[in-house]
Amino acid sequence: MAKDKSPQNLGDSHRIATSDDLEVSTYLEIAKELGGEQPSAPEEAISGAKREAIIVVDFGSQYSLLIARRIRECQVYCELVPYDAPWEKIAALNPKGFILSGGPASVYEPEAPLAPAYIYESNLPVLGICYGMQVITHQLGGRVAPATKHEYGHAILHISDVDSPLLADLDNASPVWMSHGDRIEEMPPGFSALAYTESSPFAVMGNDKQIFGLQFHPEVAHTPQGKTILKNFAYRICDCQGNWTMGNFTKDSQVKIKQQVGQGKVISALSGGVDSSIVATLIHQAIGNQLTCIFVNNGLLRREEAKRTTKVFRHNMGMNIISVDASDRFLQRLRGIINPETKRKAIGEEFIRVFEEEAKKIGKVDFLAQGTLYPDVIESASSGSQTSAKIKSHHNVGGLPARMTLSLIEPLRYLFKDEVRQVGIELGLPEEMIWRQPFPGPGLAIRVIGEVTREKLEILRGADWIVMNEIKKAKLYHQLWQSFAILTDVRSVGVMGDFRTYGYLVAIRAVTSEDAMTADWARLPYDILARISNRIVNEVPEVNRVVYDITSKPPSTIEWE
Ligand code: XMP
Repeated sequence: MAKDKSPQNLGDSHRIATSDDLEVSTYLEIAKELGGEQPSAPEEAISGAKREAIIVVDFGSQYSLLIARRIRECQVYCELVPYDAPWEKIAALNPKGFILSGGPASVYEPEAPLAPAYIYESNLPVLGICYGMQVITHQLGGRVAPATKHEYGHAILHISDVDSPLLADLDNASPVWMSHGDRIEEMPPGFSALAYTESSPFAVMGNDKQIFGLQFHPEVAHTPQGKTILKNFAYRICDCQGNWTMGNFTKDSQVKIKQQVGQGKVISALSGGVDSSIVATLIHQAIGNQLTCIFVNNGLLRREEAKRTTKVFRHNMGMNIISVDASDRFLQRLRGIINPETKRKAIGEEFIRVFEEEAKKIGKVDFLAQGTLYPDVIESASSGSQTSAKIKSHHNVGGLPARMTLSLIEPLRYLFKDEVRQVGIELGLPEEMIWRQPFPGPGLAIRVIGEVTREKLEILRGADWIVMNEIKKAKLYHQLWQSFAILTDVRSVGVMGDFRTYGYLVAIRAVTSEDAMTADWARLPYDILARISNRIVNEVPEVNRVVYDITSKPPSTIEWE
């Protein structure tokens, strides 16, 4: 999705979903390699509310998941399914309508993905977006012409059928975002144009069987009234009631957890991050001390993190917490390792070991709770068919190690990150916990460039503490996706008082992002940068130079390793 790069919009940046279970994904990643059991089927894991669902049929657009999120923002449950999903799977979700997503293909290619017949036979409403609209056109007897040129960017939508419920409450002449190659030459029989733009006479089309097409993308921020269209589709066309609220979800999932667990025992890895904290609290409020959380201090955490996490959960919330200080073990294991992926792997494996050892000490345990989120599920579901390069190993999600014969509890499995935060609010968790910035599983190890040592970790903690402190003081913490320090392996010459110094170079990284897939460097005010830099060189004696990272992702990544 296009990002707003302007500095003045720093304050408007909106932290929403993420595809990473940032806290325990290292564990999951290793678990996958060890070959775990498959997580439970979707039907079982969804809240027990009288569910109604809009189904997004995925043709591979980069925006498909965003469509689902926008529909959920309208309090209607929405799931993404592959375009060739069997009807049985969809029927179980109680569909009220279909949205056919965009996608990179052309309908007249021999292998082009098309909508399965059951979509049209179901007599449920259908909304095709971009490629989805071309699919409808092609399958229902219209004509799609190959692109002579691609149309990208803004267009102005003019409504021609003011009575169409799909376009109710929409301003005439509203901006929309186009991004398509092929175009519709002729609508299928029975369709009429409901709206047009300068270059698309059929920017919106529909028939009286409640089948619609949009040439533009209503789900992206560049179509400011797009959500009104999606909401109209859900409520006015599909007749949804809007019962998908996080209050309902929280209550239902606690009832379900109680049923599932019975008298059994549950363990969970607690990192203090958003997802694992919310999973633990949700389950603890449902089954009390049948849950034991294992908090592993790997020695790679930020200053005071370990103490604060155990204090909050053990003392304030009264949870059963096993807190293990495994710092020495992890440091020992990391000795001599420079390669970032080797670091990640070593930390992940060590984590599994410590976790299993501690779990064994508890005695009989029946369930393992995990903070898997919906984007993880989607990503791992599609990873088999995609040939995308592995940039960093944390994007992989898997099941349990085969040797751990526990059943999984994944109450957040169908939630987006912003929904998870809502659940946190329902549970009464402190704001500070709900709005924490993501922190990677391998922790500071991937922010110490090169070999990780105790000394370097301490230096980094000092610098990181100052960054956090100043960012929070400037009230920028919540507007940034992440803000942190990196200890580079560069040393440079400086002068302090009358003395020459030869100290470390610290880099500061602060980014805005919607989902960590792309990110932009934050235009932090100069005086904040100056304060951070002054404080670091004055308060962290080993550091004599500070730089600010001004690269976006891509081509960089958020973390340096
Ligand atoms: P990158 O550096 O790939 O990071 O742009 C995207 C997001 O993922 C976090 N990250 C990780 N999280 N284990 C994690 O749990 C990891 O190994 C890992 N590496 C990166 C990063 O902090 C950012 O939010």
